[in-house]
Parts: sequence; C-alpha cells; structure tokens
Amino acid sequence: MPYSSFNRSIKIAPSILAADFADFGRECEAIEAQGCDWVHVDVMDGHFVPNITFGPQMCKAIRPHIKGVMDVHLMISPTDSYLEAFAEAGADVLSVHAEAGPHLDRSLQCIRALGAKAGVALNPSTPPESIEYVLDRIDLVCVMTVNPGFGGQSFIESQLAKIARLREMIGERAIHIEIDGGVTPQTAGNCAAMGADVLVAGSAVFKGGSVAKPKAYGANIRAIREAADAAL
Ligand code: DX5
Ligand code: ZN
Repeated sequence: MPYSSFNRSIKIAPSILAADFADFGRECEAIEAQGCDWVHVDVMDGHFVPNITFGPQMCKAIRPHIKGVMDVHLMISPTDSYLEAFAEAGADVLSVHAEAGPHLDRSLQCIRALGAKAGVALNPSTPPESIEYVLDRIDLVCVMTVNPGFGGQSFIESQLAKIARLREMIGERAIHIEIDGGVTPQTAGNCAAMGADVLVAGSAVFKGGSVAKPKAYGANIRAIREAADAAL
C-alpha cells in the first residue's frame, strides 16, 4: 500500500536506475513480489547531475505497477516548476536536493501542499546543519553516500558521522533517514547502527537477477535487510 504511517523499521528501497530500462513496469512488480518495501526512482536532468534519466511521464507510467511507496528522488535544478507534475504522477515521497536552489523552505512547503511526503537529499559535502531550520517541514532526509549521478559507486565512509548527527538532530520527530549510494550487505549494518531506516540500493539489489530470474532480487534484498537488522 502507498505510504501509510511512520515507523523506523528497516525499509529496503531498490533504485530502478539499475533495472532494465526497457521493462520498468515488470521490474517494479518483480522487486515488490520479492519483498522490497519502497521503490526508489532517480530523476536526473543532465544539469544538476551529469546524467539524464527520465521525467514525470515515466513516473506516471510505472505508478500502476507499484503497489507500495513510490519514492521519487529529484536530482534536478530548478525543482519548483516540476513538483506538481511529479506529485500528479503519483509520487508518495518527493525529495529535492538542498543544493538545488536557494529556496528549500518554499520547495518543501510546496511538496506537502501537493499532498506528498517531503524529503531533502544532501550531497556528501553538505553539512547536516543545512536542514536545521526546515526539520519541521520534512518527512525524510536522504544522505547521499556517493556523489549523485550514477549507480555502482563506492560508499563514502565519512557520511556515517553525518547519519549519526542527523539522528540526534531529528530526536522524536517522525522523519525517515534514507541512505542512497553504495549500499550493500557490507555497508548496510553501519548505516542502520547510525540511525538510518530506509536503505536505497541499485546494483546490490538487481545484480544477478532479471524479470525472468527474480529470485536473485529476493536473495539480494534479504541479504541487505539481514545485515541491517543484525546491527540494531
Ligand atoms: C545515485 C542515485 C542512487 C543510485 C544508487 O545518484 O541517487 O539511487 O541508483 O545506486 P547504487 O546502489 O548502485 O549505488
Ligand atoms: Zn537516489
């Protein structure tokens, strides 16, 4: 079911950036059938990040193939003029980058007004304090543990301290901490131990599987979840 209520249990969110681009609908169905929690959709504009993926029409096209939460990560600048289109496409969670424009507070208000959960993504060089004054406007903070733009990069260890600091800043607020980039069974445990609850993984979920061979997706999702749960 789409986003219902807040909890801090570990959620695995495969990034379809690592799926078969000619078959997104069936890929989304396969990862959900294999036990993922959210589906993470990486939108890139070739301007904010050095890669181009897809836009709101693609999100709208895959929405009927996703039963649960569609988690849309916007790596675009400017953002505000596109928020309505992504909300109408069915994003449950809509995240913008703190670095994408000068009016983060306005973008976040706009996302909530459109009826979606509001997220902020932070590049590796962006300090946790950059969201100190918008904590009451957000439902999720996404810690980028690679430089955004591409899948398959190595996890940047320095971000673990940022996760811990954000966990402290958040306190009892209902805000998810999502980790995006280089998440594997080897890195998931530390992320969970520092306070993360949503783990995005592209390569580590899709490797070795396909729509015709989906069991590998299930094994990969379980391996990440078990590593995270074991660290709690
Ligand atoms: C990177 C994207 C990530 C990416 C993760 O810019 O935001 O979601 O797909 O891919 P892996 O898990 O392969 O690092
Ligand atoms: Zn992402």
